[in-house]
Amino acid sequence: MKRSLTSLAAGITLLMAGTHAGLAAEQLSVLHWWTSGGESKAIRVLKDDMTKQGYEWKDFAIAGGAGAAAMTALKTQVISGNAPSAAQIKGPLIQDWADQDMLVNVDQSATDWKAHSPSQIDSSMKAGGHYVAAPFSVHRINWLWINKVDLEKVGGAAPTTWPEFFALAEKFRAAGITPVAHGGQPWQDMTIWETVVLSQGADFYRKVLVDLDQKTLTSPQMVQVFEIVQKIRGYFDKGYHGRDWNLATAMVISGSGGMQFMGDWAKGEFANANKKPDADYICAAAPGTSNAYTYTVDSFAFFQQNGKKQASPGQLALAKTIMSVDFQQQFSLYKGSIPVRLDVSMDKFDSCARKSFADEQATIKSGAFLPSLAFGNLQSPVTAGAITDVVTNFMNSNEDPKEGVRKLAAAAKIK
Ligand code: BGC
Repeated sequence: MKRSLTSLAAGITLLMAGTHAGLAAEQLSVLHWWTSGGESKAIRVLKDDMTKQGYEWKDFAIAGGAGAAAMTALKTQVISGNAPSAAQIKGPLIQDWADQDMLVNVDQSATDWKAHSPSQIDSSMKAGGHYVAAPFSVHRINWLWINKVDLEKVGGAAPTTWPEFFALAEKFRAAGITPVAHGGQPWQDMTIWETVVLSQGADFYRKVLVDLDQKTLTSPQMVQVFEIVQKIRGYFDKGYHGRDWNLATAMVISGSGGMQFMGDWAKGEFANANKKPDADYICAAAPGTSNAYTYTVDSFAFFQQNGKKQASPGQLALAKTIMSVDFQQQFSLYKGSIPVRLDVSMDKFDSCARKSFADEQATIKSGAFLPSLAFGNLQSPVTAGAITDVVTNFMNSNEDPKEGVRKLAAAAKIK
């Protein structure tokens, strides 16, 4: 008996070696833009998992926060007939690629997704009723990150209104701290602008960015949004132009910057630097936004390989792994997000993630769980691009807020 078990084990070992040596392992080419410290740690979990499952991981990491460069690289790959096995794509762009008949469905791997995900997220992974993408996690955008030591030094508290925010910014300035750490790139400009829109209420946000309602877009309240944004800009340092988001986060980590508006991938950087919430830094909902939640969901969409309309075993395994309970947990722990799956325990997560989860649940109920325009989860890329141009132009000029509003209303009509 013992001998036969031994020879069985030897046989299995040989068989496995054969798989590795003889039959080439399926290569998974993967395009994404996760290149910062926290981001790389998070995606490495998936790479290691897939490698353990016997797949060869070919990494196409294209640097550039929010993925504009990655989306250009993706188009080049597809046009040259080298579509990746999976690419980080989100929101309406998933539909666009599906409409071009470029994606494959991974329904086989998605049998329990619907039962365990928020319905808004679940439906955005589908095209024509089939799953063509797998979601990683939920990032909240409307955060304000504050260095705790700086805050104590100036005797301040996390601001809940814009007047409190500007009062704190003044204190930081007086103490020689850059009040707002920012990177002047269009998507980072949009992060601030969109958050200020949200501070006017979930209904206002919905009318402006979901419905593109002209009356609200041209309202005095919209002028106020541009005025607040202009005032915030006055608290950046001189070197903000073109700065990458993680370098702005590094300023808040070191304390040379007091605050940053950024999605909670920033928390991945704090964690990577061994900083703890409540002790070293504070995560607060941005002023006026504690009852609302703007989100972005990262996902991998799966591309047809060599003209095959069906998903490969590797693509199916990748989709299944991304939505597995263990991976969802570990990925978000490194990334700063919360799992998409609602059946992942939050026990191992820090206070910011728990707050994010509680607020996610509450805002789903209240109707204030809102997709982000800045991060591609809302509107077509053409409309979002036109709005982004207006906002970025405004933030880099001395334009009158009323002129900003006029241009915004025009941009919202571009389809
Ligand atoms: C993605 C995040 C990423 C961030 C910065 C966002 O668009 O959703 O996963 O960390 O860009 O690169």
